Amino acid sequence: MARTIRIFDTTLRDGEQSPGCSMNLNEKIEVAKQLEALKVDIIEAGFAASSPGDAAAIAAIADNVRGSTICSLARCVEKDIDAAWNAIRRAESARIHTFLATSPVHMEYKLKMTPDEVIESVAHNVAYAKKYCDDIEFSAEDATRSDLDFLCRVVETAIKAGATTINIPDTVGYMIPEEYASRIHYLREHTEGIENVVLSCHMHNDLGMAVANSLAGVEAGIDQIECAINGIGERAGNASLEECVMALNTRKDLFGVDCNIDTHQIYRASRMIQTITGVSVAPTKPIVGANAFAHEAGIHQHGVMANKETYEIMTPESVGIPKNAIVLGKHSGRHAFEDRLRELGYSLDKEKLDKTFEKFKVLADKKKVIKDRDLEALVGAVPVSGEERYTLDRFVINSGNSITSTAVIRVKKGEDVFERVAASDGPINAAFRAINKIVDKDVELEDYTLRSMTDGEDAQAEAIVKISIDGSEIVTGRGVSTDVIEASIKAYINGINKYFID
Ligand code: KIV
Ligand code: ZN
Repeated sequence: MARTIRIFDTTLRDGEQSPGCSMNLNEKIEVAKQLEALKVDIIEAGFAASSPGDAAAIAAIADNVRGSTICSLARCVEKDIDAAWNAIRRAESARIHTFLATSPVHMEYKLKMTPDEVIESVAHNVAYAKKYCDDIEFSAEDATRSDLDFLCRVVETAIKAGATTINIPDTVGYMIPEEYASRIHYLREHTEGIENVVLSCHMHNDLGMAVANSLAGVEAGIDQIECAINGIGERAGNASLEECVMALNTRKDLFGVDCNIDTHQIYRASRMIQTITGVSVAPTKPIVGANAFAHEAGIHQHGVMANKETYEIMTPESVGIPKNAIVLGKHSGRHAFEDRLRELGYSLDKEKLDKTFEKFKVLADKKKVIKDRDLEALVGAVPVSGEERYTLDRFVINSGNSITSTAVIRVKKGEDVFERVAASDGPINAAFRAINKIVDKDVELEDYTLRSMTDGEDAQAEAIVKISIDGSEIVTGRGVSTDVIEASIKAYINGINKYFID
């Protein structure tokens, strides 16, 4: 029987902690539900001790997700392990993931611990975690720059103390595939008890090798891959889930392994992460990039028309890229609208469906043809209930190349209406300044992007803002409209609303 490789998703932990990728509670739950639909084996939902917000999000995910094991990261410190257990304890299946660095540079300069102290801490803290929970993962941080014999000692200690999964991370993305595989072989040959635990890899992409290294790990006997949707994560990111999974599936002839992922949910998961974080993937990104299945050259198009296998090693349908079968428009009814959303993989509750349909009708009055990307934009732009503290009522902008731009913005907060005027050298900045006056906060615009969602003159614009308020963490706001200024104002207000519910 083929081995089954466990897929451990760290989008909500390593991914979420990377710059520009932070998510609020509702967004984390939405992502966790999609990971459940994707059938990932383990969801690393966060790092409970890092903040009360992270702990609350992990607990909410533990309450709401079934079918996947829910895991929290914890340093080898009792209070971290207590916080991790507290957050995951209501999960149907729970895991504590504790870690400690084992490389000379980390031990000397970061931990200020001797190798013997590291061994002692691993023995103590893994055993401490084991009192709470059977399923314990131990990671030797910076394992790939650690002395191999010392690493064997650490791993042996963790196994003796009760670890059931041992992770050998390439924390700084330093490995090349053959080298990583040979480290795994060495560990397997020189570590007592290693045959009784699940071996795991967690590869960073600093040299662009994260996926290749993960696959080399599988060939060397690794049974769990840690990865993230769209490859988000610290610095250059983690191994991308979609690339690892599709490599294992497409080259089953080579790897001879299975995994439990429902690949049809991949595209939707990727779109969701792009929408929530505002971090888009490159058009050439394997599996989920806009060009991943596009055949431009005439000779390629001709080949694909004759037989898809000429240039396609996997089908777009297998990763859930919807066929553009129907286009919706002004005369489309609720049935057609709901059917298309379902085909795109959305299952919205009634409240969100009603709100999205209302927005669809407004858009259909402005645009002749509504494409899938428009629908995705609409769904992403409908706020989760409780998220709308301020709503845009109306705006007037006066701008030109020889005058100072002015903006009059009116927003509602419940029954109250606020209107302010501001000036600046551009219309968008003037609008943002007027909003700052309304919310009476020191809002810092860290990043702003504007792009067209579809082609054509009546395309919708998507604005993404990254803001911090009174020195807070960065919040992502998103707005869509056929008017670029309206999209920008909505994105800014959306970001401010998110700050208030966090
Ligand atoms: O990259 C790393 O080493 C980590 C560990 C905490 C597993 O993220
Ligand atoms: Zn990592």
